Amino acid sequence: MAHLWSGRFAGDPDAALFEFGASFSFDRRLFEDDVKGSIAWAQALRDAAVLSPGEATKIERALEELSAAGLANPGLFASDSASRDEDVHSFVERELVARVGDAGRRLHTGRSRNEQVSLDLRLYLKRRIPHIHRTIAELVRVLARQAEMSGSTLMPSYTHLRRAQPVMVAHFFLAHAAAFRRDYGRFEAVLNDVDELPLGSGAIAGTSYSIDVKALASRLGFSRVVANSIDATGDRDFVSSFLHACALMMVHLSRLAEDVILFTSEEFAFFDLADTAATGSSLMPQKKNPDPLELVRGKTGRVIGRLAGWLATMKGLPIGYSKDLQEDKEGLFEAEDTVIASLTAAATVIDGLTINKAATEAAASGLLLATDVADYLVAKGVPFRDAHEIVGALVRRLVAEQRTFTDLSVKDWQSHSPLFEADVRDAISPAASIAKKRTPQSTHPDAVAAALKELQQWLSARAVRT
Ligand code: ARG
Repeated sequence: MAHLWSGRFAGDPDAALFEFGASFSFDRRLFEDDVKGSIAWAQALRDAAVLSPGEATKIERALEELSAAGLANPGLFASDSASRDEDVHSFVERELVARVGDAGRRLHTGRSRNEQVSLDLRLYLKRRIPHIHRTIAELVRVLARQAEMSGSTLMPSYTHLRRAQPVMVAHFFLAHAAAFRRDYGRFEAVLNDVDELPLGSGAIAGTSYSIDVKALASRLGFSRVVANSIDATGDRDFVSSFLHACALMMVHLSRLAEDVILFTSEEFAFFDLADTAATGSSLMPQKKNPDPLELVRGKTGRVIGRLAGWLATMKGLPIGYSKDLQEDKEGLFEAEDTVIASLTAAATVIDGLTINKAATEAAASGLLLATDVADYLVAKGVPFRDAHEIVGALVRRLVAEQRTFTDLSVKDWQSHSPLFEADVRDAISPAASIAKKRTPQSTHPDAVAAALKELQQWLSARAVRT
């Protein structure tokens, strides 16, 4: 069979080596992008008077037909002849020639697969990132809904996984939402990296035909043209950015999963998993396991691995195209599939959580109010460092006596500092603690309500119903 490059060679390549180098089994995912790019290239060649208007129209029609046939019948990619194609570019060209003959053999004039593959992957990300965006927004919506439903319920916050200070449960859900909003923005930045037309670069030195690359860029929806043809054919920074955005978002998903795994455990019992979002044990009848969240946490490893592996692939490459770059696609597709599946699973699990208010509020009370006690003394003029010492000693005593602040009489308080007055008993409570917070990013109920409202506006600006 003739390959795109068979003229130079006396015979067919070694079958196993050809198979080793072929990418059609996975790059067929770029089929509609390759066709779209080829239609635009035919038009550019017509405008440059390389193709006659008649030839260009014939090519366009045939490509449109092929596109419809391929989308309607995935079996086309597995047909006998297709299984011998090296990659999606060869497949499209062979199918085109089969449909229009000689005119199809002119389409590759002035164009190289080196730039074509970069174009296809850019077009692919342009059409797929909006789907990732929608999936992130759906998770954010579910987090916002949990924040809203939690009302004024309190829980402890943790540092070093030790009780730190009381917060609103809503503040906790909004904390995770904040990370996913940054991820959303990171994928917008990836779209910006993607937004450069590589065509006109040829194999490396540019093209010898008078292609209007600006017009071609706007026809294909790009706002810029690459600056340098050598760089363009070997540049996959947009792939690195995409994998980084995926890996970091998986890290956020993994931390969310970890929090919910902990907080739904018997030890915390803050939240309950919906029965539909948990799994049982084949042996232990009592178990209600958070498998989907564990898998989200587990799959984070493979996406981080795809980023690390890809950067390792890139680091030794001379500038310009090398076949190593073909390794970009499988990692990218796998990362994409994994983030979409993980976001969707996490959203379903979070959506089904119920809050055990008795448990969260019991845990939000007690010695984690120590900072508020210190602040009470600061309000009476004690330097914070001294207040910290006094309250530290008080906490030491309470721990030894297995008591807490609410168990203290006014006399007990005053034995630690004469500045404590009767009002200390009302001043030190979880509700008083959050009401004392002042900054907009704090857990003050008004600040949290404003943050939730702002998030809901963010969602509706992205056409997500809240
Ligand atoms: N399948 C190749 C890739 O994915 C397409 C570009 C091939 N170019 C070449 N000169 N061999 O990178």
